[in-house]
Amino acid sequence: MRGVVVQANPTVYAALRKRREAGLHSEAIAESQPLAWAAWLVVDEGDVAFNVFVGPADAGDTGIEMARRQCKTGTSEPWRHRRALIEKLRHLARRHGMDRVFADFIELSCCSLSNAVDKSQFAVRESRYHEIRKRYTTEELQHFSEMLALLALVMEEAGFDDVLGGLFMTLDLGSKRSGQVFTPYPVSRMMAMVTMGASPELPPHGFFNAIEPACGAGGIVVAMADTLHQAGMNYQRHLHVTCIDIDLRCVHMTYLQVSLLHIPAIVVHGNALSGEVWDRWYTPAHVLGRWGARLDRH
Ligand SMILES: C[S@@+](CC[C@H](N)C(=O)[O-])C[C@H]1O[C@@H](n2cnc3c(N)ncnc32)[C@H](O)[C@@H]1O
Repeated sequence: MRGVVVQANPTVYAALRKRREAGLHSEAIAESQPLAWAAWLVVDEGDVAFNVFVGPADAGDTGIEMARRQCKTGTSEPWRHRRALIEKLRHLARRHGMDRVFADFIELSCCSLSNAVDKSQFAVRESRYHEIRKRYTTEELQHFSEMLALLALVMEEAGFDDVLGGLFMTLDLGSKRSGQVFTPYPVSRMMAMVTMGASPELPPHGFFNAIEPACGAGGIVVAMADTLHQAGMNYQRHLHVTCIDIDLRCVHMTYLQVSLLHIPAIVVHGNALSGEVWDRWYTPAHVLGRWGARLDRH
C-alpha cells in the first residue's frame, strides 16, 4: 500500500470522490487553500480510499499530524478485511442480488446478537432467522458467519468509525428517496464534539441520555461514544441512546454497529415524525447493563 498525506478542504473531498467514481486514481492532490480538512489518501491496488479529517482551519501541520496519527492506526489490515468482506458480499450477490444479501447479512447478524441476550424477543427473532436461512445453501450460510467475523475485525482495527454506513455507501445501497446519504464520520465526530464539548460534564444522574431520531447506520451515535472515550469517560456506563429509523436496514445496521461497540442503546424501527413504533431492538450493553431499570429511575 502506498499513501500520501494531502491537505484538502471539502472541495477537494468532493473532487476525490468524483475521481474515484470516474475510475481515476489519485496519489496526491496538492491544495494551497487554508486547511479545513486534512486527508489521508490511500492508493491501494487501484482502489482509492481515504480518511478525511476535520483539522484546525489555520494550523496545517497540526491537521496533517492528526491525519498521520490516525493512519498509523489505519494500517492496511482494515482494508484487507474490508475488501474480503466486500468480496464475500459480491460473491453471494451474484445469485441473490446485493440488496437482498446485504439486508440478510445484517438482519441475520442482528438476530444472533439479540438472541444471545434478549429472551423476551427470542421466538420472533429465531423464527425470522430460520426464514432468512432458507434462502441460502449450506455453503452460502458459511459465508454469512465469516462475514460477521470479518466485520468484527474491520471494526476492531478501524476503531471508532461508521464502518457499516461507509460500506452501505460504497455498495451504493442508499435510497435517494429517503435521503439516505450518511454523514461522513469525521463530520459526525466534529458535530458530536461541538455538541458535547471536548470535556463533557456528566449530568447529575450519571449518564447522557441521547436520541438519534434518523439514525441511518448509527454514525452519529458512534461519534458520541468516540467523543466520551476521547474525554476519558466510559461510554458503556455513561451514555444511553435511543435510535430511530423508518428503514429496517438502517435499524439493523445501527443495531449491529452499536452492539459490536457495546453501546447501551434501544434501536427503534419506527417513524420519528408520526411516533409510530413497529419494533424495538435492545443492544447487549443495554440488557446486560440493566438499562431498563436505570432509565425508569431517571
Ligand atoms: C440523511 S440520513 C442521516 C443518517 C444519520 N443521522 C447520519 O447522519 O449519518 C437520514 C435517515 O433518516 C431516515 N428517515 C427518514 N424519514 C424518517 C422518519 N420519518 N423517521 C425516522 N427516520 C427517518 C432515513 O431512513 C435515513 O436513514
